[in-house]
Amino acid sequence: MSILSWDDFEDDSQKPAAPEHQSAPVEPKKTANPQVVSDAQQPQKSVATAQPAATPRSTSTNSADPLARASNALNHLDVAPGLEELEMGAQRVQVDDKRMINCRADLNQLVPFKYEWAWQKYLDGCANHWMPQEINMNHDIALWKSEDGLTEDERTIVMRSLGFFSTADSLVANNLVLAIYRHITNPECRQYILRQSFEEAIHTHAYQYCIESLGMDEGEVFNMYREVPAVARKAAWGLKYTQSLSDPTFKTGTPENDQILLRNLIAFYCVLEGIFFYCGFTQILSMGRRNKMNGVAEQFQYILRDESMHLNFGIDMINQIKIENPHLWTPEFQQEVIQMILEGTMLEIEYARDTMPRGVLGMNAGMMEEYLKFICNRRLSQLGLPEQFTGVTNPFQWMSEMMDLRKEKNFFETRVTDYQTGGALSW
Ligand SMILES: [Fe+2]
Ligand SMILES: [Fe+2]
Repeated sequence: MSILSWDDFEDDSQKPAAPEHQSAPVEPKKTANPQVVSDAQQPQKSVATAQPAATPRSTSTNSADPLARASNALNHLDVAPGLEELEMGAQRVQVDDKRMINCRADLNQLVPFKYEWAWQKYLDGCANHWMPQEINMNHDIALWKSEDGLTEDERTIVMRSLGFFSTADSLVANNLVLAIYRHITNPECRQYILRQSFEEAIHTHAYQYCIESLGMDEGEVFNMYREVPAVARKAAWGLKYTQSLSDPTFKTGTPENDQILLRNLIAFYCVLEGIFFYCGFTQILSMGRRNKMNGVAEQFQYILRDESMHLNFGIDMINQIKIENPHLWTPEFQQEVIQMILEGTMLEIEYARDTMPRGVLGMNAGMMEEYLKFICNRRLSQLGLPEQFTGVTNPFQWMSEMMDLRKEKNFFETRVTDYQTGGALSW
């Protein structure tokens, strides 16, 4: 393989002349939806902006030489129209210009910060960086493959958890990138959403890593969200809220559409990440506390820590949108949100009953139901809504301890876990 050097660019005389057809403009690919413009088409669009069709072009524009054509295009590049097209003008942004949604200020200027909490979460997320391969899975592999290592009920929990989570984090990531990102018009929040998107990729990687390490039937596990009712109902519930928002013609800016965005944020941050993850997390972490499937449990522990930050970011974002757009938070809308949180809680209780037909790992479906009602109350009060279950308490106090830890204790007595230096973990 040859190495490209600057000489290769300069020494054009050595190159064969490009065939005539290469100089012809590339016909844009036809897409089913005219709103969808591929990345490959974008450069042509910006060159067209810089060089109106009516302007006379130098003869080199039609040159067969790509370098001459590129050079000519840059000579005619007009910066301002390009910026206007990108994000509404090239003025310096003031703090007061910034808004969570429907913002008219330039979104490419990260500073000055308005929402310090979003930037701080971005920094915290980066400080907690981890990768799935850094966790030793040997003990898990031996236990999973031994005849009497785990009970049937324990095996069901491992399978179902990996089945749900292996696709759930992809649902969340796709919703972030394809639906939410473009409607959140604030750069520091977008910076966190980009970090969160990568963390979701790491989570999907972690589940895949567990599934592969344990030698599970990948087709069976990755299709549970379509084939196993207790898993499929949760996925379907979330997907319902992403559909209109990921339509490329969808725009915020009317109360109806802004409420559609809020519904999506509540469905994904408060229910999917804030309720649907909790039965599976509790089950797997409980297994780790009993010194079973330590590697899988450790992966889940790091994921839980990331997820609790995703949830808190989502709550902050939703509450900030409420503050800036009080007209959206009508009594009717509040009732709708309460119902959404209750539906999510009931689906997760269904999942608990399905995965725990009997007592297992020192817990049972009844305790999990109590825990999920406690979580439901917590989500409602985080959104400023009235709790719906009176007198419930948290039967799994140890779960709160796990989430609240900035710097992990050596919980499973396997190794020291300190993530402050990203890729350079020392155990
Ligand atoms: Fe995740
Ligand atoms: Fe997440």
